[in-house]
Amino acid sequence: MGNAVAWRSLGRRTPPATPALLPRLQSLNRVFRRKYEGLCHGKQPAHMLLPCRLVSNKAKYRWCAKSYPVLDGRVLSVYRHVFEANLRNSETLIKRYSELLETVSKGGGGNAILHHTQRNKKLFVHDRLKLLLDDESFLELSPLAGLAMPYGDVPAAGCLTGIGKICGIWCVFMANDATVKGGAIFPIGVKKQLRAQEIAMQNRLLCVYLVDSGGAFLPLQAELFPDKSHGGRVFYNEAIMSAMRIPQVAVVCGSCVAGGAYMPTMAEEAVMIDKIGTLFLAGPPLVKAATGEYVSPEDLGGAKLHTKVSGCSDHFASSEKEAYECIRNVISTLNYDPPPEEVIEYDSPLYSSDELLGLAPQDYRCTLPVKLILSRLMDGSRFQEFKANYGTTVVTGFGHVQGHLVGIVASNGELSHDASLKGSHFVQLCSQRSIPILFFQNTAPHTAQPTSISQAEAHSNKLKAQASMMAAVACAAVPKITIVIGGCYGSDSYVMCGRSFSPNFLFLWPNARVALVDSRHFSTVPQAGDNDCTGDESELKHLKEKLEEESSAFYSSARLWDDGVILPQNTRKVIAQCLEILDQQKYQVVSPCRFPVIRM
Ligand code: COA
Repeated sequence: MGNAVAWRSLGRRTPPATPALLPRLQSLNRVFRRKYEGLCHGKQPAHMLLPCRLVSNKAKYRWCAKSYPVLDGRVLSVYRHVFEANLRNSETLIKRYSELLETVSKGGGGNAILHHTQRNKKLFVHDRLKLLLDDESFLELSPLAGLAMPYGDVPAAGCLTGIGKICGIWCVFMANDATVKGGAIFPIGVKKQLRAQEIAMQNRLLCVYLVDSGGAFLPLQAELFPDKSHGGRVFYNEAIMSAMRIPQVAVVCGSCVAGGAYMPTMAEEAVMIDKIGTLFLAGPPLVKAATGEYVSPEDLGGAKLHTKVSGCSDHFASSEKEAYECIRNVISTLNYDPPPEEVIEYDSPLYSSDELLGLAPQDYRCTLPVKLILSRLMDGSRFQEFKANYGTTVVTGFGHVQGHLVGIVASNGELSHDASLKGSHFVQLCSQRSIPILFFQNTAPHTAQPTSISQAEAHSNKLKAQASMMAAVACAAVPKITIVIGGCYGSDSYVMCGRSFSPNFLFLWPNARVALVDSRHFSTVPQAGDNDCTGDESELKHLKEKLEEESSAFYSSARLWDDGVILPQNTRKVIAQCLEILDQQKYQVVSPCRFPVIRM
């Protein structure tokens, strides 16, 4: 595949390359050629390739973004009282959110941190990440996971996960927090690790594991072993990811006991820290019980033993600092092309992002036109709307977020028949054009039951249209990011790319309500087989309270039904970061599935 063919496919719109642009375009051509060659040896047919990267993002942005119409984002005075009520609600919720974040940032709390840093002479997990990552601008995933579980609070699920840059490359990291019950793995911790691996697989991001864990939290062993999505799945994924050519590296920076010992051993390369990292299937107490002999953790499974004798680890580090330097060097040998550092001068939105707090509906009935939200998120508040006058309860169109072109599908009322058809059409357009889709979800809590034949017919038609949009969303072969800006209710939430539709990322605003039904719509207690029957008052009150509690964004995030709660005013930044992360795979060589790297 020569450059000539690639250039020809661009057609006549390609401008002559200026001398300054030439090296950049040559480098993009190289990336394209490697990608093409990789794919030709794989199963993907050549006609599926889009030479989209041959024109710089900067040039594309200059050509198109500035000419899109500007949205009118003024909040009319008729909406003022709703805006004020939403604002008060957002402020209360953000205060709660900050308190929760503050709690989880302390891990297992004061004594446990002292035990960890002074007695065990280890760094706190946040300090480890500071040494590992290029800078502090990482995207932490689900920090509120693990709060108020049936088995108690497990701050951050005992394990920090997120995406940060190492040597200029976006990487997924998973780091045990040993101040939370010695880093023991709880069921929610397994779920968090599996989600991080899923993100790595879906977005082709390499993984770094910082392992410091006492293994399975034994009192909950029945919820951790042996089902498919239990602990063992993490190790299964490690092999599959390696075979997919998604590299994984590990640092043993604490205990790796029992099942936990497989995590670094299955990584492609591992570093172990002297007198801090230990790795064994059964620790000294078990050895003593079985043999009567005391063996020190170092002699049983320390860094010297595993780097000199067993080969379970590949690099010896005499300190934590040395270990993170070593792992950064390992990452630089992966032969990855970091995304080009192209500075695009994009326009900020014309309206303040702080006003999003007044547009975040405290209740579905307090929803304001969604274009007011879009005008505070899109570059220059510009938006090229698609089918503006048809199916207006969904708004669709194109815009840019910090220079990235995106397709927008935003709820603007109940998901009607026409809105769903329009949504299907638009999602397919984005898929055809390889444009990532942003879903802004605010679905209605319920649909009225039909009271006539004609209404029943209308419902069936709507169902059919929604089914077609679900199919379009499920099959769209482009990255999808969902932001729940209000309601995430029942089946409409699937159509708007809810969690079951596998968006690459899904975040909630603090005001989001997540439930099958809205508790406020119950006047009686529904009972099986009898639509009309009523329970007593206290039963109804109890049911409503339960539904209310279970609908909050914090309840959802604690259970990992999303990738985290984000503040409305940070939405643009988070979306841009996700788009940058998603962009990275365009610069990788894709090759057919092979065998994993197997430790010898
Ligand atoms: N299950 C349940 N609780 C665990 C645990 C596990 N696997 N590992 C550690 N914990 C708890 C401890 O009971 C202790 O709880 P407490 O604070 O309520 O007393 C807390 O985590 C901290 O452990 P502690 O032993 O005080 O810390 P340490 O730094 O001295 O040692 C370990 C950490 C991980 C080396 C040590 O706790 C250990 O060996 N744990 C058992 C590991 C094991 O056998 N795992 C098998 C899993 S199948």
